[in-house]
Amino acid sequence: MSRILITSALPYINGVKHLGNLAGSMLPADVYARFERARGADVLYICATDEHGTPAELAAAEAGQDVATYCAIHHQAQHDVGRAFGLSWDWFGRSSSPQNHRLTQHFAQVLEDRGLIEERVDKLVYSIDDKRFLPDRYIEGTCPVCGYEKARGDQCDNCNSLLDPIDLIDPVSVISGSRNLEVRDTRHLYVVQTKLAGVIRAWVDSKSDFSSLARSIAYKHLDEGLIDRGITRDLAWGIPVVRHGAPRPGFETKVFYVWFDAPIEYIAATQEWSDAGGGDWRRWWRTDAGADDVRYVEFMGKDNVAFHTVSFPATILGSGEPWKTVDMLKAFNWLNWYGGKFSTSHKRGVFMDSALDILPPDCWRWYLTANSPEHSDSAFTWEQLVAAVNRDLADVLGNFVNRIMKFCEAKFDGVVPAGGAAGPLEEALFADVSAKLAEVTAQFEAIEMRKSAQALRALWVLGNEYLQVAAPWTAIKTDPERAGVIVRTALNLVALYARVSAPVIPFAAEAIACGVGEAWPPVWPSLDARAELDRLPAGRKIATPPVLFKKIEDADVAVWSERFGGAD
Ligand code: 2FM
Ligand code: ZN
Repeated sequence: MSRILITSALPYINGVKHLGNLAGSMLPADVYARFERARGADVLYICATDEHGTPAELAAAEAGQDVATYCAIHHQAQHDVGRAFGLSWDWFGRSSSPQNHRLTQHFAQVLEDRGLIEERVDKLVYSIDDKRFLPDRYIEGTCPVCGYEKARGDQCDNCNSLLDPIDLIDPVSVISGSRNLEVRDTRHLYVVQTKLAGVIRAWVDSKSDFSSLARSIAYKHLDEGLIDRGITRDLAWGIPVVRHGAPRPGFETKVFYVWFDAPIEYIAATQEWSDAGGGDWRRWWRTDAGADDVRYVEFMGKDNVAFHTVSFPATILGSGEPWKTVDMLKAFNWLNWYGGKFSTSHKRGVFMDSALDILPPDCWRWYLTANSPEHSDSAFTWEQLVAAVNRDLADVLGNFVNRIMKFCEAKFDGVVPAGGAAGPLEEALFADVSAKLAEVTAQFEAIEMRKSAQALRALWVLGNEYLQVAAPWTAIKTDPERAGVIVRTALNLVALYARVSAPVIPFAAEAIACGVGEAWPPVWPSLDARAELDRLPAGRKIATPPVLFKKIEDADVAVWSERFGGAD
């Protein structure tokens, strides 16, 4: 049995995520996990909240809570909304876990033992009134590159330049608004990535399975030349900096940088799963404990790629220990929101919790898969959402399922008809369905989100086309046995659709499977349509599920546009 480890980028703890985050990491990871489980693979899908760094501290301060309390509440909230979306994590951990503390400190120690960590003196902005350094998002000012007035210490949201806080023009403390700032020396730890450039390039060279977006970003960074990376910050919340298990002198008020510990949490979250009785984490992560057999697939937005193709590999390859590394990195572009970006800090766009106020999870899952920002940025529009729900889900899939099941209830007492044999129409259908099944399977396997959705839709269309030509409502008048063959074949199609649609629309798929009395969770079909469309036993009772997909009305769109912005 193949074993597949799947991780999706860890969402920051600072509030419920928007649809762009969902579309660019967690949802495609879930679709792939569900597909591979149905194929019989031993899948482990791991995610967690990313709980350290200035985003967590600032969000907690805004909420008027201490950071630990804030993180506990928001971890649960993100867990709950993820589950409501059907995200089938095997474990949803926390980067603040004891396991991650231990493992992060372990990696820092091993890297230091191997001469890959150095202490250096940095110049950072110190706030005299706040009596503290102002790392990353704790300082704002005018961008030295583009002149944007609210650039953050680490990055300008306007021109996307990565910034050094001391270069900001007219800087101000985000904590107090004080401009009483000065540049002071402070010591920090650096991973000497320059020593690892050759190792990392060779490693990327060996990863022919990475998506082209991931490879191009990795090579861009390697070609520009790696720089050594600061992995500590002057912050109170985070993983303490220790040496040989004791506080590191001079680092008592510092913690590891969030981007050092966050990817380590992929492993630590698996340890959390292990400690909770899930299984042996070593089999998934240690090549000296069987992880060589694992295929490891990572999902993330393009802004995360450098951290996963350079920084995190520097940590694990630099350790010299036998860790499993990623085999396939699937990177996503942006889902844009009406001419701008979705933004958590600016609360722009539709967020996961409010999305579920207005539509069931499957509608969003289908829309975001069919319009996935995988090969270029894509733009959210209400029109596209309406088309995806009304045309694809309601008119094509929902209508087919409803029409044939209702007909079976009206004319065959809601029982799968017996008797009769497949005729030429069914033979043609078997050939078409086999071809489309092969296409659907190939696209899911290749983790091509849009093409998977297109192939699924093409498979659904075959059902309506078959009914249109076979016309059981006519046949029933003159040849009930023939009508029975058509109904039985179409009901088998319904059951098949439930199985193959489940990765993308698991809730509707389960309702459909239940309606035709099929087992759940589903098993992926073979490519032999003749066999797959001859599974339902004659005489089985069926029951039409309640309306699967309610159509979106113009009036709904008007209300939602008003509530969320976007089109006028
Ligand atoms: O960009 C983000 O949302 C980060 N929180 C992703 C972290 S991914 C992993 F490395 F932890
Ligand atoms: Zn700028």
